[in-house]
Amino acid sequence: MQLYVIKSDITRLKVDAIVNAANSSLMGGGGVDGAIHRAAGPELLEECKSIILKIGTCPPGRAVITGGARLPARFVIHTVGPVWQGGYFREHELLADCYRASLELAEEKRLTSIAFPCISTGIYGFPKQEAVKVVSSLIHSWPWKRSSLQEVYFVVFDDENFELYKQAFPEAL
Ligand code: APR
Repeated sequence: MQLYVIKSDITRLKVDAIVNAANSSLMGGGGVDGAIHRAAGPELLEECKSIILKIGTCPPGRAVITGGARLPARFVIHTVGPVWQGGYFREHELLADCYRASLELAEEKRLTSIAFPCISTGIYGFPKQEAVKVVSSLIHSWPWKRSSLQEVYFVVFDDENFELYKQAFPEAL
């Protein structure tokens, strides 16, 4: 499995799945959620609505998968990160759950490539330095030999996350 740290707009990536930093309603929002829904078109929201009809809400730490609609990606994995509240309300655990649930969904579908944004570090306020430690320990302890995933992209959107991810993943291209 090859890791990549790239500075890009995640909506442009032609990978099996891009991960969306959604909210529990799955009805879209700002940040990367807004960008993904804008690029995907209304079909994405329709599919999210049908999922919400079934599950009611997507709690923090959970993930659901939809098609990619008009995106170059085949699928979108929508996961809901924790809102940072100081670090004493299981935020680290819930953030790790987001990455774990997204990887598990991708592997269930035997996907070979996935792209993550820096979940929760924007509007949800998770400190970037804290978040990258959570991601690093999860990724570096994942059983990659059993995984269908061959390429994992960390798509950063700012210089601070870029530096943090390059330090956390020196093996990444
Ligand atoms: N491509 C890649 N990364 C992006 C893009 C993009 N087009 N747009 C924003 N980002 C980055 C942000 O800079 C940040 O590093 O995605 C990361 C996650 O930030 P947010 O999108 O604000 O997500 P989050 O902090 O998890 O907050 C989620 O925001 O948009 C709403 O509906 C969403 O309520 C939810 C909340």
